[in-house]
Amino acid sequence: MNHDVILLINLSRIKRENSSRFDFFNIQNMPKSFKKPQRKAFVILHFLLFSTFLLQFQTAFADGKSDFKANCASCHKASEQKLTGPGLKGVLSRIPEGDWKYNWVHNSSALIKSGDAYAKKRFDEFGGSVMTTFPGLSKEQIDAILAYADKGDEPAKATGGGEVVADPAQPSNTGGLDPFWVLLAVTGILLILAVVLRSTKRALKNVVNEKQGLAPEPDRTLWESFLYWCENNKRIVAVIILYFVCVGVKTCWYTVKDIGVYQGYHPEQPIKFSHKIHAGDNGIQCVYCHSGAEKSKTAGVPSANICMNCHKGISETANPGSKEEIAKIYYAAGWDPTKMAYTGEQHPLQWNKVHVLPDFVFFPHSQHVMVGKVECETCHGDVKKMTTVEQFSPLTMGWCINCHRTTEVKMEGNKYYDELHEKLKKKYGKQPITVAKMGGLDCAKCHY
Ligand code: HEC
Ligand code: HEC
Ligand code: HEC
Ligand code: HEC
Ligand code: HEC
Ligand code: HEC
Repeated sequence: MNHDVILLINLSRIKRENSSRFDFFNIQNMPKSFKKPQRKAFVILHFLLFSTFLLQFQTAFADGKSDFKANCASCHKASEQKLTGPGLKGVLSRIPEGDWKYNWVHNSSALIKSGDAYAKKRFDEFGGSVMTTFPGLSKEQIDAILAYADKGDEPAKATGGGEVVADPAQPSNTGGLDPFWVLLAVTGILLILAVVLRSTKRALKNVVNEKQGLAPEPDRTLWESFLYWCENNKRIVAVIILYFVCVGVKTCWYTVKDIGVYQGYHPEQPIKFSHKIHAGDNGIQCVYCHSGAEKSKTAGVPSANICMNCHKGISETANPGSKEEIAKIYYAAGWDPTKMAYTGEQHPLQWNKVHVLPDFVFFPHSQHVMVGKVECETCHGDVKKMTTVEQFSPLTMGWCINCHRTTEVKMEGNKYYDELHEKLKKKYGKQPITVAKMGGLDCAKCHY
C-alpha cells in the first residue's frame, strides 16, 4: 500500500476520535438538521475535498526527488560521487537500521555527540564537516528522500537490445494506481450514470404524467437540463463555486509565497556568470568580489569595474558563447575592446537578487563573517561548485534562531568584544556560551 492511502486512513481516524461536533470524513455523521439540498451539497463538498486530499498527499509525500534537490543536493549527490558529504547511492544498505536515519537527518551533531559509533566514524572520514540539521523534515519525507537517493539518479540508459531501462528516479509508487486517473475514471462513471438515470427518470415521470393526464416532461437538451438543475440547486452550485475559489486562492498564495523566500531559487542573470569557474576552478576569493561581507552589513555584488580587473585581458574562453557574455561586461563598463580604451559610456549591470530577506529583518554580514567566523559555505552552500548561485538555506526565522541557539561564540581574537566576553565568562563559567546567551534571540537584534 502506498503512503497516500495509509495517511488518509490515519487522518480519518484521528479526525473521528477528536470530532465533538461534526466530522467531514464521515458522511454518516452529517448533522441531522440538514435538509435535502444541504445534504446533497455536503456529499458533493465531501467528494471534492476528499479528491483534493488524495491529490495533495500524492504530491506532498511521494516526492523524495524534489525534497532531495531542495535540502540535500548542495552537499550530496544521488550517485556514488562525493561532494561535501558522501554520495548517497546505496546509502540504505550501509547505514545502521531502524531510527538511525531520522535521528541523523534531524540532528547529526547530537547523534555524533551521543557516541554513536557509525555517526562518529563518518564524521571523522569527512574531516569533521558538519551536516545541516533538518528538524522540520518528517519521517515520511526522509524515507522518500533516502529511497530516491539510494537508487541513484543516473539517466535512463539504453541496453544492448535497444530497450530502455526504467528511470530509477521515478517516484517509487508508480507501480500502484495514480489517484488522479482513478479520480477521473470515477468521475466519468458517475457522469454516465447520471445521464442514464436522468433519461430513466424522465421516462418514468412521463408514464406517471400520462396516467394522471398531465403534459409530458419537456424534452430538454443536456445543457438545458444542466442549467435547469443549477436554477433549482443554487446552494450546491454556490458550494462548488466556493470550492474552486478557495483552491484558486490557495494556489495563488503558494505561488506568491514561493517567489520570496525559497531554497534553490536562482533567477536569470544579465551575464551567465559562473561561480564554479571563478571561485572554484580559478580559486578567486569570495571577498575579492564580495568585499562588503567583511566590512559591512551587505556582502554586495561586484560592479563591472571589478570584472574588468581581469577581463581586460580575458575576452574569450574555450567555452562556446563566452565571447558574447564577456562582451556584455565591456558594454557595461564602457570599454571598447578594439581601441582598448574606455568610452566613458557605462551601463551598470542589473544583477537579480537571489537572497531576499524581508525589509524588517536586520542581517549583518560582517558580524557573522569577521566576528562570528562563520564560513560563507555554512549559509550559502558550496558556491564554488555552483554554475548559477542558488539559495541554499531556508532564510526563515527558525533557521537564524536555530543557529544562534547552537553556535558557540568565538572568544579568541575578538578584540571588539573582549569586555562583553569577559562578562559572559563570569556569568556562565565553564558552560558553552552560545550566540543566544549573548542576546542573539532578542527580537530587536534582528528586527528594526
Ligand atoms: C551542509 C552539507 C550537507 C547537507 C545540506 C546535507 N548533508 Fe548529509 N552529510 C553531510 C556530510 C559532511 C556527511 C558526512 C558525515 C559528517 O561529516 O557529518 C553527511 C552524511 C550523511 C548521511 C550518512 C551517509 C553515509 O554514507 O554514511 C546521510 C544518510 C545523510 N547525510 C543524509 C542527508 C540528507 C537526507 C540530507 C537532506 C535532507 C542531507 N544529508 C543534507 C553533509 C550534508
Ligand atoms: C569574480 C567575482 C566573484 C567571486 C570570486 C565570487 N562571487 Fe559571488 N557573485 C558574483 C556576482 C557577479 C554575483 C551576482 C550574479 C549571480 O547571482 O550569479 C554573485 C552572487 C553571489 C551570491 C548571491 C547573491 C544574491 O543575489 O543573493 C552569493 C550568495 C555569492 N555570490 C556567494 C559567493 C561566495 C560564497 C563566493 C566564494 C566561494 C563567491 N560568491 C565568489 C561574483 C563573484
Ligand atoms: C580575478 C580575475 C577575474 C575576475 C575579477 C572576473 N573574472 Fe571572469 N573569468 C576569469 C577567468 C580566469 C575565467 C576563465 C578563463 C578560461 O577558462 O579561459 C573567466 C571567465 C569568465 C566568463 C566566461 C565563462 C565561460 O563560460 O567560459 C565570463 C562570462 C566571466 N568570466 C564573467 C565575469 C564577470 C561578470 C565578472 C565580474 C562580476 C568576472 N568575470 C570577474 C577571471 C576573472
Ligand atoms: C550566517 C549566514 C551567512 C554567512 C556566514 C554569509 N552569508 Fe551571505 N547572506 C546571508 C543572508 C541571510 C543573506 C540575505 C541578506 C538580505 O537579503 O538582506 C545573504 C546575502 C548575500 C549576498 C547578496 C547580497 C547582499 O549582501 O545582500 C551575497 C553576495 C553574499 N551573501 C555573499 C556572502 C559571502 C561572500 C560570504 C562569506 C564571506 C557570506 N555571504 C557569508 C547569510 C550569510
Ligand atoms: C550558521 C549560524 C548562523 C546563522 C544561520 C545566523 N547567524 Fe546570526 N550570528 C551567528 C553568530 C556566530 C553570531 C555571533 C557573532 C559574535 O560573536 O558576535 C551571530 C550574530 C548575529 C547578530 C548580532 C547579535 C549581537 O548580539 O550583536 C545578528 C543581528 C544576527 N546574528 C542576525 C541573524 C539573522 C537575521 C539571521 C538569519 C537571517 C542569522 N543571524 C543567521 C551565527 C548565525
Ligand atoms: C536571529 C534573528 C531573529 C530573531 C532573534 C527574531 N527574528 Fe523574527 N524573523 C527573522 C527573520 C529572518 C524573519 C523572516 C522570515 C521569513 O520571511 O520567513 C523573521 C520574521 C518575523 C515575523 C514575520 C513572520 C512571517 O512569517 O513573516 C515576525 C512576526 C517576527 N519575526 C517576530 C519576532 C519576534 C516577536 C521575535 C522575538 C521573540 C523575533 N522575531 C526574533 C529573524 C529573527
